[in-house]
This record gives sequence, C-alpha cells and structure tokens, in this order.
Amino acid sequence: MQTLTLANGTLIPPLGFGTYKVPPDVTQQVVETALEVGYRHIDTAAMYGNEREVGAAISASGLARDDLFVTTKLDNPDHEPAAARAGFARSLDLLGLDVVDLYLIHWPLPRTTDYVATWATLVELLDTGRVREIGVSNFQADHLRAIIAATGVVPAVNQVEVNPYLTQEPLRALHRELGIVTEAWSPLARGRVLSDPLVNRLAEALDKTPSQVVLRWHLQRGDVVFPKSTHRARMVENLDVFDFTLGDDEMASISGLNRDERSGSNPDAVELDGGRR
Ligand SMILES: NC(=O)c1ccc[n+]([C@@H]2O[C@H](COP(=O)([O-])OP(=O)(O)OC[C@H]3O[C@@H](n4cnc5c(N)ncnc54)[C@H](OP(=O)(O)O)[C@@H]3O)[C@@H](O)[C@H]2O)c1
Repeated sequence: MQTLTLANGTLIPPLGFGTYKVPPDVTQQVVETALEVGYRHIDTAAMYGNEREVGAAISASGLARDDLFVTTKLDNPDHEPAAARAGFARSLDLLGLDVVDLYLIHWPLPRTTDYVATWATLVELLDTGRVREIGVSNFQADHLRAIIAATGVVPAVNQVEVNPYLTQEPLRALHRELGIVTEAWSPLARGRVLSDPLVNRLAEALDKTPSQVVLRWHLQRGDVVFPKSTHRARMVENLDVFDFTLGDDEMASISGLNRDERSGSNPDAVELDGGRR
C-alpha cells in the first residue's frame, strides 16, 4: 500500500481500520484480528470508550511501534485548554503509547465552544513531541478558515463524513487548496451504499465486491479511509483493493450517486453530548 505524507512528514497508510461502535468487550480481539490480517492504521477516539482495548491489541500484536499509525481524538467535554491537555494525556495513557501519530479535535461544537482556543492547545501539544500530526474532524469551511487565521497552523487532516451518497466536493476542494488531507469517515455509509444497484452492477462487472468498489473509489480520489468491521472475512475483503483500477467513467458514475445525504450527525448541529449518532 502506498503511503500518503502528512504536514510534518509522517507517513499514513491510506486504508486503515475504524473502531467506532466496536464494543469495548470485543475491541481487543477485533483489533488484534485487524492487525493480524494486515491493517497498520487504527482510528479510535476517547468518545468510543475503547482506547484501552485498542492499546491492549497493539501491545499483544508484537508489531514495532514504527510500523503502526494510530489516531485518536479529543472528546467533546474536553475542549477547554486544561481539559484538552488532560484528555490528551489520558488517551495516551489508555492506549499505552508514548506518542500518537495523529490527534484530532473530534467535533467543533461551534454553538457552545471556542474551538479556536482548542486548536491553539493542539498546536502546543505538538511541541511536547508526544503527537506527530494534529488535525480536526467534522470542521466546516468556516471553522477551518477560523483556526488557520488565528494560529497560522493548517490541520494535517480534516476527518469528515464522505461516501458516494455524500461526496463533499466543495469541502474536499477547499482541503486541496489549503493542503489538508481528507479522511473519509463512514466510507461505506455504514453499509447503506453496499446495496446500491449501480455499485452492485460495477462490482459484478469487475468481479469485486460492492465494498471493494466503494473503497477503491475513495482511494483513487486521494482520500484516507478506515472502514469498520467486526468480521474477519470482511476485514480481509476491505483490504483487498489494490489489484484493480476504476476507469474515469466508473469513478464519475459512483460520484454521480451523490445526494448530499448524511449517515451521521451534521457538524453545525452537534452539541456537547452529541456526535455519537
Ligand atoms: N470523526 C467522526 O466523527 C467519525 C464518525 C463516524 C465514524 N468515524 C470513523 O470512521 C470509521 C468508519 O465509519 P463507520 O464505522 O461509521 O462506518 P463504515 O465503515 O462506513 O461502515 C461500517 C458498517 O459496514 C459494515 N461492513 C463493513 N465492511 C463490510 C463489508 N465488506 N460487507 C458488508 N458490510 C460491511 C459493518 O458491519 P460489521 O461490523 O457487522 O461487519 C458496519 O455495520 C469508524 O469506525 C470511525 O473510526 C469517525
């Protein structure tokens, strides 16, 4: 798998493994299986309540730390600078890691929170050497512009919902302009896009599965993805997308499925206890 390079030079595998809604009691086993079948990039968050178990799986895998890319995220109640520093330390502690590869503000909470001050705190965390790259999640265009104007620091990534039903062209264009890597969460629209008739026709013609076609579409667009599955066979299937290419017409037809439809929460509407849908 060819890696992408983030703002500070850290290499990120563009296809990773997501852990949202993986219950803590099975997380260690699920993540151990993901690492065993070949995933080297794990996406978690304080909000998911499974960082300890993700860390246990990493430790049990015996993999060298440098061979793994680990992302976690600041929880909604931890925006205030002192709470953000404490939340970051807690995440590293639960993960059992000295350094995390990527740390994100999970939701901007624009109605209630000074997310610009939170971003300034993440910029300070870079100086501790305990995080390689900092970024944001669920930031809209105006949120991105505000944090960059205030600090001069461009987030390495913006992790937002992207899938064939929500292609996010304007936001992705802004990311390209600003040099931000797009991370596409819910890349399969939580499974909904897998029954789409066009995706199924393309999959049949290419002798691939619907999930493989959709993940390939994301990767050819240059986005980073981390599909979640608790099933080993699906983990293997989702990783097996590097032996075929979608042509321009196929790419365009999948992009044409866009209906600006979200599977998850709208970032402008999420409040302190939100973002869990
Ligand atoms: N930053 C944010 O606010 C945010 C929000 C949401 C998600 N995320 C991140 O993005 C990751 C991925 O998003 P997601 O988990 O919401 O959704 P997703 O990856 O789009 O879809 C996961 C769903 O698809 C099913 N699935 C996976 N592979 C499949 C396959 N090959 N065939 C059939 N079904 C398949 C899974 O079922 P099984 O598990 O039963 O196989 C699960 O129900 C999350 O885990 C998390 O790390 C971030």
